[in-house]
Amino acid sequence: MDAVTTVRADPAFRADVLAGLAAPIPAVPARWFYDHRGSKLFEAITRLPEYYPTRTETALLERHSGEIAALSARNAAIIEFGSGSSAKTPILLRAVAPAAYVPIDISGDFLRESAAALQAEFPALPIHPVEADFTGSLALPEAIAGLPRLGFFPGSTIGNLVARTAVDLLRAMKETLGEGSRLLIGMDRIKSVEVLLAAYDDAAGVTAAFNLNLLHRINTELDGDIPVEAFRHRAIWNDEMSRIEMHLEAVRDVAFTVSGQRFSFGAGETIHTENSHKYGHRDSRLMLRAAGWGVIEEWTDEKQWFSIILAEAEPPRFAP
Ligand code: AVI
Repeated sequence: MDAVTTVRADPAFRADVLAGLAAPIPAVPARWFYDHRGSKLFEAITRLPEYYPTRTETALLERHSGEIAALSARNAAIIEFGSGSSAKTPILLRAVAPAAYVPIDISGDFLRESAAALQAEFPALPIHPVEADFTGSLALPEAIAGLPRLGFFPGSTIGNLVARTAVDLLRAMKETLGEGSRLLIGMDRIKSVEVLLAAYDDAAGVTAAFNLNLLHRINTELDGDIPVEAFRHRAIWNDEMSRIEMHLEAVRDVAFTVSGQRFSFGAGETIHTENSHKYGHRDSRLMLRAAGWGVIEEWTDEKQWFSIILAEAEPPRFAP
């Protein structure tokens, strides 16, 4: 007999799914995409020809890492928020040569794997991984007390949050890093709708599989019986909100249960699964400023498709 595999359901996942599916505009937070298969599918997305953000940001970091290092304090500690597989980190570590590196991620497994890989590449670098949710302010390891701090938040992950939550997060980062610290953040720019739609609805169907994987995850972890083939991936550009939205659209009338609760969707109804906001030049600055970060420098590519911004935590000051 095969060993029984038990998948323990995360109570927060269950609560979000049950509340989200019953909401007037059904939606499930995008953070639940990232189970093991979802994380692998996201990595595959970053290598797709249509998915420009990763390539463009990596090239920007490579091209400007010398300037970034020149603008950063010597002896800094680099604190990476949501380090995941830390793919872009070596470029920054090589250029800045920090005194310490603190990757923060909610997924302990991922964190340990990537920290071990980086330690092999940078054997002399003190690495202090922190397994935590960084959406609130948190205490950094004692070992970096007194070191100047450079936060790193690449990938335009900030764009997956609506403006209010994004500002809350940037403010929490400022609290975590402290006054005078710096933040290097990647932000995706507004561009032609064709380019954006292709990036979120690729020809090979990897993004569709990533989106639909959420339904598989619900079935496995929350005792669901959702007929996955009754849904299709949809990516749309919401111009008013300046964002790509991903939805799962019912292709026929469908009813199912999750954790004993019954849900039904009519053909054409959707579950909203992700927002990916895109920013104009002034939008990103305004958002940073709203959270107390002043922009020091911004680098963008020739097509102005993506930008990386170096900002400084501003002291509170009186202003008219
Ligand atoms: C993680 N995040 C920045 C990605 C994005 O582009 O918004 C997630 C993603 N969703 C579909 N493709 C990629």
